[in-house]
Amino acid sequence: MCTRYLGFFLLVWFPGMLHAQSAAEPCSAPSLNGGYSVPDEETYPHESKLLYSCDNGLKPAVEGWWATSTCENGKWSHDPQCINETSCLPPTTPNAVYNVNPEGWYEEGDKIRIKCLEGYEHKDRHATAVCQNGAWPSLPVCERSIESCSEPPKMPHAVIINMKSQEVFAEGSQLLYECEDGFTTDGEEEKKIYCLYGNWTKGSPCRPSSSTGSNEGDSGTFQSISVDKCGRFPLVENGIPTENGRLSLKYTCNDFYKLVGPPIVVCYRNGMWSDVPICKDTSCRVDTTRYPELKPAGIKILRDGETMELACTDVWTFDNFSKFSCKNGRVESTECCNRAQFRLGIC
Ligand SMILES: *[C@@H]1O[C@H](CO)[C@@H](O)[C@H](O)[C@H]1NC(C)=O
Ligand SMILES: *[C@@H]1O[C@H](CO)[C@@H](O)[C@H](O)[C@H]1NC(C)=O
Ligand SMILES: *[C@@H]1O[C@H](CO)[C@@H](O)[C@H](O)[C@H]1NC(C)=O
Repeated sequence: MCTRYLGFFLLVWFPGMLHAQSAAEPCSAPSLNGGYSVPDEETYPHESKLLYSCDNGLKPAVEGWWATSTCENGKWSHDPQCINETSCLPPTTPNAVYNVNPEGWYEEGDKIRIKCLEGYEHKDRHATAVCQNGAWPSLPVCERSIESCSEPPKMPHAVIINMKSQEVFAEGSQLLYECEDGFTTDGEEEKKIYCLYGNWTKGSPCRPSSSTGSNEGDSGTFQSISVDKCGRFPLVENGIPTENGRLSLKYTCNDFYKLVGPPIVVCYRNGMWSDVPICKDTSCRVDTTRYPELKPAGIKILRDGETMELACTDVWTFDNFSKFSCKNGRVESTECCNRAQFRLGIC
């Protein structure tokens, strides 16, 4: 322990740690229980630093056995405090979010629920973590869903106009594009590409807008022509073309299926169909035997947007349940709580 404190003081007396500036608000001394801070003043000027360390069995509320906090215009960059060594700091969870405790740390036994970002899903349906003896022993992992897409490929003579700086796009994501000057596509409708089954649709290609009859060749390839010329209408599982115009087909999905991708399909002069949509099953299957917190009750099917209360295995009483909901084919669930807790918004 002596060497520990010696190290601490060496750090403290390192010159240049404390530099004052009087223009902005000073900070008052933090009330540090179970630890000590250096320098020990009544007020600290703006931008000055404070070092603190904690007694045995406690630790600072940030990483490391000693910590620095900076006075920023009347407020400490983090509130210097000593917490029980068995408490946990907020975990790092790649590709996920969780409700961050405003205190900045978690007591032993506290539970957090982790939600994966769009395009990612929980590995092994494992969504919660419990703070145990200062650590998070089994942190849920969010892995990329196989239906997600990477950045879209470059499209000739096209510019994506609502590009977001993200690496993974969930299935069904749409991006709008425009053609460069002097280029155009058939049809007036918005030009979009869609992420379907892990790949982007091709979109209607941008071709030179001055393509007249005299300059056929490549430029005319993607002009749409009568739908009879492309042969059999494209097959879309669980969907059918419902509005058949001379130059386009419009697809609709059966009940409980959602159309993802371009609803309108055209026939190109080269005899190929344009991108075809898919009809996606938006219902969810919940196998209650695979959730350790639930009482086994077979397989439950939830429709898109539906919420279902499923009974939890409680040791003492039987009135705790978890709310399962289905959003776009993805299952979301709450913790096991009782009705009062749900009413109070704790769960
Ligand atoms: C830390 O918490 C444990 C129980 O979680 C308690 O037994 C122990 O006394 C606490 N330690 C300190 C230094 O407060
Ligand atoms: C996505 O595109 C790649 C490359 O073109 C292809 O190998 C793969 O089979 C496609 N995946 C699906 C699900 O269509
Ligand atoms: C229900 O679950 C909550 C949170 O998990 C727990 O605090 C509570 O004691 C449980 N209620 C009953 C009646 O078992």
